[in-house]
Amino acid sequence: LEHDIDVYYKTVLDLVSLAGKVVSQGFSVAKRIETKSNTVDLVTEYDQRIEEILIKQLREKFPTHKFIGEESSAAGHEATLTDDPTWIIDPIDGTTNFVHGFPMVAICVALAINKDVIIAVVFNPILDHLYSAVRGKGAFKNGRPIQCSKQTELGLSQVIGAYGYSRDPAVLDAKSKNQRMIIEKAHSIRMMGSAALSLCLIAEGSCDAYVEYGAYIWDYAASDLIAREAGAYTCDPTGAPLNLSHRRMLCAATKELAEQISPLLTHIDYVSDSKK
Ligand code: IPD
Repeated sequence: LEHDIDVYYKTVLDLVSLAGKVVSQGFSVAKRIETKSNTVDLVTEYDQRIEEILIKQLREKFPTHKFIGEESSAAGHEATLTDDPTWIIDPIDGTTNFVHGFPMVAICVALAINKDVIIAVVFNPILDHLYSAVRGKGAFKNGRPIQCSKQTELGLSQVIGAYGYSRDPAVLDAKSKNQRMIIEKAHSIRMMGSAALSLCLIAEGSCDAYVEYGAYIWDYAASDLIAREAGAYTCDPTGAPLNLSHRRMLCAATKELAEQISPLLTHIDYVSDSKK
């Protein structure tokens, strides 16, 4: 089967740019907010509407392709990644930011074929930052090539952390301990509230490493490729190869830096299933 990557790439760039207009319109107006797994796991009418638009338009163009979307999964649709060409979609990564009017929000779309992501787009329409990558062709921000920092020393690093949505005391303790272990050595810790934009900040060299437990495949399928195409290293926080369905990620500007962070971490396990 021949894949016309250029056609896929152009199509998704056009669609994401249109979807960005809807996100921007919704950003500063009052919106209907609901909760999902718990009282801090939020969803808005915009998340659902944008995912519907993206899936509908992509399905019309590529009727044999499969889809994994954050909101479709929340509504009970199968979210297992197979070898089929699969579009992995987070309509709004950073939903809590979106609800609060904090501008770190992004539309994320990745295309995986044989379980490998080959096209990635992460668009922050509020700041007008478009990050993109095609496997083997480098990473770009608004069309210009980006490179990670190449930092090798934790002592000189700006690290991104995250608390995510779990309020389980044991999970919160592990995450707090991880932050504590890192801040003892690093220049700083930052929290963005968007897994995808965290990885894009590594990709463009503004931060040096990122660790998160509990995010989902749609939060980082696209930005993982963008980070790697910008020269960064991604793995499971234990140092094992990354599995996008395992809900844990360590990304660092270099493998040396990842190897300094990994032993500091208390690891949290998830059932290897990407459903909410
Ligand atoms: C969340 C954001 C957040 C991260 C969570 C994600 P959503 O995605 O990326 O930064 O900490 O783990 O689930 O729900 O806003 O798409």
